[in-house]
Amino acid sequence: MPKKLIDEQEIQHRIRALAEELAEVCQGELTLVVVLKGSFVFGADLLRALGRLGVDPRVEFIQLRSYRGGRQAGKLEVVGVLPEAPLGSVLLVDDIADTGRSLEVARDLLEPLSATVRTCVLLDKPGGRTVDIQPDFIGFTIDDAFVVGYGLDDDEHQRQHSFIGTVT
Ligand code: IMP
Ligand code: MG
Repeated sequence: MPKKLIDEQEIQHRIRALAEELAEVCQGELTLVVVLKGSFVFGADLLRALGRLGVDPRVEFIQLRSYRGGRQAGKLEVVGVLPEAPLGSVLLVDDIADTGRSLEVARDLLEPLSATVRTCVLLDKPGGRTVDIQPDFIGFTIDDAFVVGYGLDDDEHQRQHSFIGTVT
């Protein structure tokens, strides 16, 4: 079992606060673009938290794949097709910003299809950054450790936990 870093209650509490922030800022038509696979759990909870505040966004998905699996990041490619333009005001939802490469790639892909793109990550590991990108909305800032659970995987496993934990 992973060692617990952020428990279920803390995650849910933070998501409610994030949704309140987002509902203030993202007025009007909104499209959540959820980055698969790691963000599917966060995306679902964020959508429902927004819904409870009366926000009714559209939802699209994009999937990025790294050539190398496991914990090593390789060259990034898009899997499948991109959502159809125009997407209007977009909130790009990702699980974690580490090097920042996937957030940057996803943002650059969506920008030509959207009026505006804002970025929202559940977790930020600023210590891992290799590209100059700062998410607009952050759930938790964490130290540079490999984390799993709440959708995040270690070689396709450990996504099922309702908490976020570290593995060694
Ligand atoms: P990037 O390095 O910011 O491009 O992060 C790329 C992707 O690697 C993230 O969207 C996650 O899917 C994955 N990733 C980065 N750090 C972790 C981690 O600590 N645990 C699980 N997946 C991670
Ligand atoms: Mg990801």
